[in-house]
Parts: sequence; C-alpha cells; structure tokens
Amino acid sequence: MKKTDILVLDFGSQYTQLIARRLREQGVYTEILPFNVCIEDIKAKEPKGIILSGGPASVYSNEAYFCEKAVFDLKIPILGICYGLQLIAFHFKAKVAPALHKEYGKAHIKIQKDNVLFKNLPQEQIVWMSHSDRVESLPDGFEILATSTNSPFCALVNEKLQLYALQFHPEVEHSEFGAYILKNFAQYICHCESVWNMGSFAKGQIEKIRQEVGQDKVLCAVSGGVDSTVVAALLAQAIKEQVIVVFVDNGLLRDKEREQVEYTFKNILNINLISIDASEIFLKRLKGVIEPEKKRKIIGNTFIEIFEKEAKKHKDVKYLAQGTLYTDIIESSVVGNSKTIKSHHNVGGLPEKMKLKLIEPLKEIFKDEVRALGLELGLNKELIFRHPFPGPGLAIRIMGEVEINALNTLRKADSILIEELKSNAWYDKTWQAFCVLLNVKSVGVMGDNRTYENAICVRVVNANDGMTAVFSHLPYEILENISRRIINEVQGINRVVYDISSKPPATIEWE
Ligand code: XMP
Repeated sequence: MKKTDILVLDFGSQYTQLIARRLREQGVYTEILPFNVCIEDIKAKEPKGIILSGGPASVYSNEAYFCEKAVFDLKIPILGICYGLQLIAFHFKAKVAPALHKEYGKAHIKIQKDNVLFKNLPQEQIVWMSHSDRVESLPDGFEILATSTNSPFCALVNEKLQLYALQFHPEVEHSEFGAYILKNFAQYICHCESVWNMGSFAKGQIEKIRQEVGQDKVLCAVSGGVDSTVVAALLAQAIKEQVIVVFVDNGLLRDKEREQVEYTFKNILNINLISIDASEIFLKRLKGVIEPEKKRKIIGNTFIEIFEKEAKKHKDVKYLAQGTLYTDIIESSVVGNSKTIKSHHNVGGLPEKMKLKLIEPLKEIFKDEVRALGLELGLNKELIFRHPFPGPGLAIRIMGEVEINALNTLRKADSILIEELKSNAWYDKTWQAFCVLLNVKSVGVMGDNRTYENAICVRVVNANDGMTAVFSHLPYEILENISRRIINEVQGINRVVYDISSKPPATIEWE
C-alpha cells in the first residue's frame, strides 16, 4: 500500500477535502480515508500525522461516528478539527453538549498558551466556526491553547500524547491564519517535508491507472471542458492506444462547441476522437421535463447508455474514465454524510447497475488544481482557462422545458455575453459566465409596438474552486452593452437581468 504523510479521517464534513488541499498547497502529501477505516489500513499508510475532520453528527448521539479507539494509541500526532475536537474530548472523558449559542461564521479567538501549533502567528485571530455542539469541560490530560467568546475550549493540547484539537475550521479561507496552523502541524509537529507537487501527482496517477487497467481498454468520455480533457491527456500518457476517447453531442451544447472540440483533439492534442451525435435521443427524453433533478438524471442515464453502446463496439473495454472533480462529488453527496445539493451528471446521475468500472483520477482535487495539472501535462493555456461548463449543458440553464427554440435563443445570448467579456478583457477575470433563459414573459416596447417576451438572466461569478462564489462586479458600461446587444440581436428577448446572488445561499447554476 502507498504511504502518505498526513492521513485525514473523514467524518463527513463539507470541508474535508479542503484540509487535504491546504496541506497539498504546502507540498505535503495527504490522503483521505473514511472515519471507520480499520487500524491495520491506517498503519499500512505509515502516516506521520492524522487529522480527524469535522462532521455533522453529535458525539453523544446514537448516530455518532467513531474511529477505531486504537487510533489514539498509535503514538502519531493527531489533530482534531470541529467534530474531531469533540471526538478527542469525548474520548478523554470531557463533557460535550449542544451549545447554547451556536457558532456559525466568523469568530475571534485568543491564544492562551504558547504552542508550536500557533508558531509565528498573532495572539488574536479571526477563524471560521461551524458547530452546534461544544466541549464543556477540559478532557483528562489536556490544556487550553485558545478560547473564543462562545467556546472556552476552542483549541486544546495534550503535549505528552501529541494530541491537538481545534473547534474552528483552519482549512476554510476565512480562518485568516488557518493554512499556517495546518502547516505548523505538518511541518513542526509531524515533521513532514514539502515534496509533493502537481508533477508528482501526475506521475502517481499515471502509475495508478497503468496498474488498475492492465491490458484492458478504457473509454474516456470528454466534453471539451478542462476536466475531461485533462483526464484524456493523462490517460493518453498512461496507456496510449488503450484509451478510446468519445465525445457525445447531446444537443445541449453551446454555439459551435462540437466543431471546436473536434478541432482541438485532432489538431492540438493529437488524440483520436470518436464524435457521436446523440442530440435527438437526449431532446426526445427531455421533452416535457421541467424538474431540475429529473433533467439531470435523464441526461446522466442517457450518457451512460451511449457510452456503454459505444464500448460494445470495441474489444476489452472494461472502464469508463470521467473528469469528476471533488466539488461534483461533495454536491452530489457521495462523501460521508453531507447533504445532496444537486446530482452532478457524472456522479449522482449514474444508473445503479453500470456495467463499466469507473476511473476518476481527478475526484480528489479542485478545479484550480486540475488546471495546474493540465499545464503540467503540457495542455495549452486557452483550453486550460476555459470557463467550466456543466455536463447537463444548457438543459439546466433553461427554466422549464428544454426544446430547440429555447436552446437556440440561449445559444445566441450566450455567445454575445462571452464575446463581450472577451473583447473587454473580463473573461479571464471571472470564474464563469453564462445566460439563463428564465421563461418569464414581461411587457416591453420595441419601435412603437408592445412586446410580451422572454427574459434572459446574465450570471457572471468569481470563485476559487466553485464551492463558494460571488457575483462579478462588471462595469455598468459592459453590462449595458451586453443587455443592449442581447435584446437587439436575440429574437424573443425583450429584457435582461443580472444575477447578484452569492453561493451560498444560491448555487452557480440555476438548476
Ligand atoms: P453549482 O451550480 O453547484 O456549480 O454551484 C458549481 C460548479 O459546478 C458546475 N456544475 C457541474 N459540472 N456536471 C459538471 O461537470 C454537473 O452536473 C454540474 N453542475 C454544476 C457549475 O457549472 C459550477 O462551475
């Protein structure tokens, strides 16, 4: 079994992957395993440190999650975060109870005792809290490292046993020195070296793919987006002609998208591409469907059906490779106990009895890490910095039934938006920009005539990894131009609105 530097045990927090990510940013190789992994598997990884993640359960409830007790006897430094702190406290006989004042969001902490965990960091800091239980007494053998107004036991240590615990989330960006706290834990407490980088990630994944696939063949589904293209490039390097790259035109693509994808694979990447036009079947199945989750499931199922049909045409195809990211998994809630937000088409939309085994080399990393990986693999910048485009395509940007006229209207509006952003040098400053067809009619006046037509919503957001987002503060002149052009040039639209919601509480896509 491959060794790791830091092992994160996942108790179901939405932020678990961020812990690994923050450590990877410091060059520390980090892996995540489920909270209940057996002690032998943990030992086999030979970790230099263990982190117990946050999670939605309560340690005192019947549904509590516990790792094996032997984890605490390994004589390896342990850091508990949020639920992890409560678990450590509970194990060492402290009282954990529902907090009278639940803490969500920013909080101030004061360091009470010098410790290497807070080495070189200010005595007072802003941190990110997200908990409804709290520790109410000091666990046996522990000392208080920091307090907050509502958490007297906000950071704890048992130096003898090398046990550390934090009530707040150092992995979240809003904890202003959180990344340094994790770095201190890895560097000074666990003595990890900073040797991990995207190059070593690529090498590791290539080896893993070779081992797993052997002499069999892999069908790799690409959409033309960054994620699946990076997967195709990774597979091409790993197993060469054993990979069959397939692109499915589902009829839900943007203007000229199919031609662009075909051109890129043929002329830029030199990877053989099988292009399938399946628009008819997708549109037929989506007829009359308006419920977002139903759309997503239909699209997911149809994709798989087509891939399986294509796979049968080739010999020895046993695997399907996809560009699933960690964000897709967490929102589809396949990790731990997190709640389902939406079924991402390449995760929750899979039929139960899929015949091909999945290969998802990007499932533990975030979009910006995928981009770094793409550059490492030699892909060109224009492709790497394309805005994300969801697998279910324009279907989830049409509020209501997906049909040809709506798709064409949306395509025209979308091209205008992208054209305007590119010509004003705003495309690269934003995470994602797109139009949504609202299917809400309103009254307008064009020439001297009354109109009663549809509205387009423009959504442009800034984000780091898609987990959170804020609307982009586009200059009014650009917004004005976009609105004027869409209303003038797209038939059937007489009103344009700008979406000013953040994620959370909204999501980036509308469905
Ligand atoms: P939301 O709407 O969940 O989107 O805030 C977060 C990011 O994920 C993209 N997205 C998807 N990508 N399949 C994908 O490959 C999907 O089903 C899917 N749904 C949303 C979205 O465009 C944004 O970048």
